[in-house]
Amino acid sequence: MGNPHHHHHHHATADHDGSGMAELLDLDAEVLHAHLAEVTDLIAGLAADSPPRTILDLGSGTGTGVLTLLARFGEAEGIALDQDEHMLRRLTDRARALGLDRRVRTVQADLDTAWPSVGAVDLVWASASMHHMADPGRVLADVHAALRPGGLLAVLEMDSLPMPRFLPDDQGVGRPGLEARCHALLAEMRAEHMPLLGSDWGAPLAEAGFTVETERNFAIDLRPPLPAATGRYALATLRRVRSGVENLLDADDLAALDVLLDGDGPECVLRRTDLTVRTTRTVWLARRP
Ligand SMILES: C[S@@+](CC[C@H](N)C(=O)[O-])C[C@H]1O[C@@H](n2cnc3c(N)ncnc32)[C@H](O)[C@@H]1O
Repeated sequence: MGNPHHHHHHHATADHDGSGMAELLDLDAEVLHAHLAEVTDLIAGLAADSPPRTILDLGSGTGTGVLTLLARFGEAEGIALDQDEHMLRRLTDRARALGLDRRVRTVQADLDTAWPSVGAVDLVWASASMHHMADPGRVLADVHAALRPGGLLAVLEMDSLPMPRFLPDDQGVGRPGLEARCHALLAEMRAEHMPLLGSDWGAPLAEAGFTVETERNFAIDLRPPLPAATGRYALATLRRVRSGVENLLDADDLAALDVLLDGDGPECVLRRTDLTVRTTRTVWLARRP
C-alpha cells in the first residue's frame, strides 16, 4: 500500500508550508463546526456507558478534534499527536485561548516510524490523517493495542479531495466550471500520490480487530448566508489549489483563478456573497471489543 518515499516527500512539503495549512485547518473547523458536532454526538451515543477519560488525536493538526472532544467530554484529558511542531505550537495557543491547555498535552512523533509510548487510551480520533500513513494497517494495529477494551476509534476521511468546492457551478469569473476543472486535475494527481484518499476503511478496521459500529456519509452543502470565515477559507483553499494546478491549467482558467484570488479586486472570493461549501465526509466509528 502506498510508496513510503512519496509519503516522506509529502512530509517535507507539509512542513515547508505548515502555516498556510494550519490556517486552513482552523478555518475548516470554524465553517464545518455543525458537522463536527454531529460526529461528536455519534461518539457520545456510543460511549454513553463510559465517557472517555483519555483521548488521543492522531495527526491532530491544529487540534480541531481533540479540543472539540475535550469541550464535549468534561472529564477527559487529551493527547495531541502530530509530526509537525508548527501545528502543535498552534494547537497549544488555541488550547490556552479556550482554557483547555491544562487538559491537553502534545506529542511530536512520526507515525510512519514507530508508535510512541502514549499509554492506554479510551478514544482515538483520526481526522484526515489516516490517508497520510505509509502503512495504515500497522498504525490501526497499534491503535487497537493502545485502546482499552471497549474503547472507540473515530476515523474521518473525505471521498476524494480534502477541500470543499466554493463556487456555484456556473461561476468562475467568465469561465464556468473553472473550479470543477481544477478539482479534476488535483484528483488525478492525488490518485497517484495519495491512493488512500477516499478509500474504504471498513475492511482495514475489521482486519485490525475492530468492530465497526457506525459508518456514516455526510454530504455537506452549505449555502448563503455563510459565516464571514467562509471567504477566508475559500481564499486559503483556492491559493493551495492554484499552486497545485498552475502548470496544468490553461491560461484563461489561470487568469480567472487569479481574479478570484486577487485580495484587492472586486471579484475576490473574500467579497463574494454567493459562496457555497460543498464537500463529502465519511466517518467510521469502531470499537475494540
Ligand atoms: C489534513 S491534516 C488534518 C489535521 C486535523 N486532524 C484536522 O482534521 O484538522 C493531516 C495531519 O496529519 C499529520 N500527519 C501526517 N502524516 C503523519 C505522520 N506520519 N505522523 C504524524 N502525523 C502525521 C500532518 O502533520 C497534519 O497535521
